[in-house]
Amino acid sequence: MKYDFSEIVPRIGTDCMKYDKVDWCCGRKDVIPMWVADMDFRTPPFVLEAMQQRLQQGILGYTCSHNAYWDNICRWNKEQFGMDVKREEVTYIPGVVCGIYLCVQCFTQPGDKILIQEPVYHPFRIVPEHSGREIVFNSLVRTKDSFTMDMDSLRRDIKGCRMMILCNPHNPAGICWTREQLQEVAHICAEEGVLVVSDEIHCDMLLGGRRHIPFASVSEEARQNSITLQAPSKTFNMPGIVASQTIVYEPKKRRKFFTYIEGNDFDLGNVFAYDCVAACYSPQGLEWKTQMLEYVQGNIDLLCERLEKECPQIVPIRPQASFLVFLDCRGLGYQTQEELDDFFANKAKIGLNSGAMFGPGGKGYMRMNVGCPRSIVNQAIDQIVATLALVQ
Ligand SMILES: Cc1ncc(COP(=O)(O)O)c(C=O)c1O
Repeated sequence: MKYDFSEIVPRIGTDCMKYDKVDWCCGRKDVIPMWVADMDFRTPPFVLEAMQQRLQQGILGYTCSHNAYWDNICRWNKEQFGMDVKREEVTYIPGVVCGIYLCVQCFTQPGDKILIQEPVYHPFRIVPEHSGREIVFNSLVRTKDSFTMDMDSLRRDIKGCRMMILCNPHNPAGICWTREQLQEVAHICAEEGVLVVSDEIHCDMLLGGRRHIPFASVSEEARQNSITLQAPSKTFNMPGIVASQTIVYEPKKRRKFFTYIEGNDFDLGNVFAYDCVAACYSPQGLEWKTQMLEYVQGNIDLLCERLEKECPQIVPIRPQASFLVFLDCRGLGYQTQEELDDFFANKAKIGLNSGAMFGPGGKGYMRMNVGCPRSIVNQAIDQIVATLALVQ
């Protein structure tokens, strides 16, 4: 491999949330931080170089986007997902969570119902709730190996909603929805006049040779009735740059949304944003992310194999995308989520996201981030196994 993902890059004391604020997730600092979704790998050198070039200009003035930014976004979508995107169908937005907020503000009113499929990334619930919207929980169903959608319950629950926020691929269970599932969601939502906001932030991290299926690409109904949110921030480990994009095909919705974004000044990237995004969506970016995913897959394989052998009470849901692993910990036998959280934080000393934060269906689960050197994954498993030997 050209890039070394096993390097331990010191992060403590660098104002990085994952290490310096790990107590936010589990109440203490002396744990291995495997929570917030950034990776412990160096941001790719070509991204850092693009920033350095900009820095050398010596003035941090207002910055405009350039052709490389738009061209690379459009080419990447075509080459990676077979998505035809025209320049005018895309706009910059700061973060994807901010994008969800903007969609909620622009397309719904206080009191409106918004459907989410839990367990799911917690801002899907928090952002609309903070804006006075009502959340409708449509629960995913546990299968033998993962979770799936229940279309009958979706058809029932969607009635009276104005928006559905879809996680494609899904966080925390790492699911890549099939074309058929997405087509059915598109059809159900189109019939009920429900706008679909598809958060596709994990779309560049499909594992096992899979190819991402953008929601907007699955049918005409999906194309006409959706807002897509994308970003290179997770894949290329640069969420601190705060640069994402939204794609809207249907002209009326696009005009409404882009006017709203521009009118509120959310379409202006910071001085580094456009260069960093252009650098990611490049041949170098493809090479880096291919190697990064190979390494992450190795971490996932290791975690699954070691847990199965040494700690079968914890059953990982093998992610089909990304570096987050949802651990089914119900076999540990704890009666409450608090006891489970306590086991990991205070006994095994590992900082994980509590499954309950993703919704009622996440109870009994923990989310582990394995976007880190393999030695850290091994250390975490060692601590879990040793702790279990003491407490059980
Ligand atoms: C599904 C999903 N959406 C959005 C985000 C955060 O995006 P941003 O930092 O661009 O707001 C995350 C981060 O984990 C995520 O998993």
